[in-house]
Amino acid sequence: MENNKELTFPKDFLWGAGTSAFQVEGAYLEDGKGITSADLHSLQKSDKQADTKVSVDFYHKYEEDIKLMSELGLKSYRFSISWARIFPNGNDRIPNKLGVDFYDKIINLLLDNNIEPIVTLYHFDIPQNLVEMYNGWASRKCIDDYEAYAKYCFSKYGDRVKYWITINEQRVLAESKSLIGFKENKNINWESIRHQMNHNMYLANAKVIKLCHKMLQNAKIGPAISYLTTYPASSKPEDVFYAKQLEDIWSFATIDMYCYGDYPSYYKQYMKECNVSVEYDKSDSEILKNAKPDFIGINWYQTATVKYTNVLDKELNKNNSLEPTTILLNGKIKIVKNENLNYTNWGWPIDPKGFRIALRKIYERYHIPIIITENGLGAEDTLTESKNIHDNYRIEFLKNHLINVKNAIDDGVEILSYNYWSFIDILSSSNGINKRYGLVYVDRDEFNEKQLERIKKDSYYFYKDIIKSNGFILSKK
Ligand code: BG6
Repeated sequence: MENNKELTFPKDFLWGAGTSAFQVEGAYLEDGKGITSADLHSLQKSDKQADTKVSVDFYHKYEEDIKLMSELGLKSYRFSISWARIFPNGNDRIPNKLGVDFYDKIINLLLDNNIEPIVTLYHFDIPQNLVEMYNGWASRKCIDDYEAYAKYCFSKYGDRVKYWITINEQRVLAESKSLIGFKENKNINWESIRHQMNHNMYLANAKVIKLCHKMLQNAKIGPAISYLTTYPASSKPEDVFYAKQLEDIWSFATIDMYCYGDYPSYYKQYMKECNVSVEYDKSDSEILKNAKPDFIGINWYQTATVKYTNVLDKELNKNNSLEPTTILLNGKIKIVKNENLNYTNWGWPIDPKGFRIALRKIYERYHIPIIITENGLGAEDTLTESKNIHDNYRIEFLKNHLINVKNAIDDGVEILSYNYWSFIDILSSSNGINKRYGLVYVDRDEFNEKQLERIKKDSYYFYKDIIKSNGFILSKK
């Protein structure tokens, strides 16, 4: 760094951290909460890993946890409201008072500690009753029920919450039957219905943005997307094209829909290739085009290196993970190992420079502010006998990614907030508790909850220093 001062972040930058309801709260059926798709998704795997029943028990330990947030110096905390705590069946006429009170207490306590709540309305956990009733997002009724739920949240918490996230990672949801909530039925074909579910979520997002702007003049609202930066495996034009194709189909088509309200032509073409189509109502176009997000929330973890292939074995195409050898886009591409990068134990490449590239690409295309809603490292941590966690690997990750965030800001990207994922160890959405993301360790194993003791990791202290110096100390590390 030529000049240390360069690493100071903008005044009022929101240094944050995040979690989501099903990944931390536990109390999965307590105080009237209804069961959700995320609960069932985790319960299906409860013979192999921890589930949402207790998770890390934020529901009962929130006071202790918010105290830790305050001590860390957090300026923002991104968390989600569980729709089924407010409306246990997803569409009840009367909200569940105990659920409503829980989030009231969280929001008030955060504000008492000068922490800005960034509230996600829907993070992978649709009330299961809506899946039973009408197959969740497959039905347009879900749009109305989601809008009614959002309306209630705006009216109840909107006097205090300034930042709202509509839907977390809708593209990822539309690829996971169990997370989105899908009832198998021989008359319904998943491949075609998932595109309709995606479409219905775009409508829901647009309606709720519009509603928020009408009800809460000072609030800001936007979606959070999973952004995957892609590299071609070689300079062969096919590799370059398909790297672009994956980034366009997975990331830009989604942001285009949010910002411009229309499917890009290449996406329509892709749907044709998949033999699927989406039912458009007369008013859809107007609804989609009339809602503009105030920011884009970016969840960013990794890059993918893409090689053109032409695999005809359709079975191989079903795997939607990103590990090397994964086949995607109807057998057209293969994800390959990037020899220039290190990988996590779960096969995720670690690529801080890719983060700067992503932030630049997004901002240069849409010119609206960015909130980094997620960025973090899942790793196995070891608790020492003296109860420490020396997670130097997480410190390295955080440092290198934040330097690239600052570089992107200097490149001209408007970034309002960085929310490290996650504040505390969570239930990983795919891998249970041992894939730890937190700055705060929770002493529990997959099957033994123990006392759920909270222990600050070395990365907690590191982030604390960063926040305190508004990023300045990054230049000295
Ligand atoms: C994002 C989700 O996709 O990735 C989070 O919004 C999730 O909920 C994170 O925890 C990391 O993924 P995983 O599967 O390791 O938990």
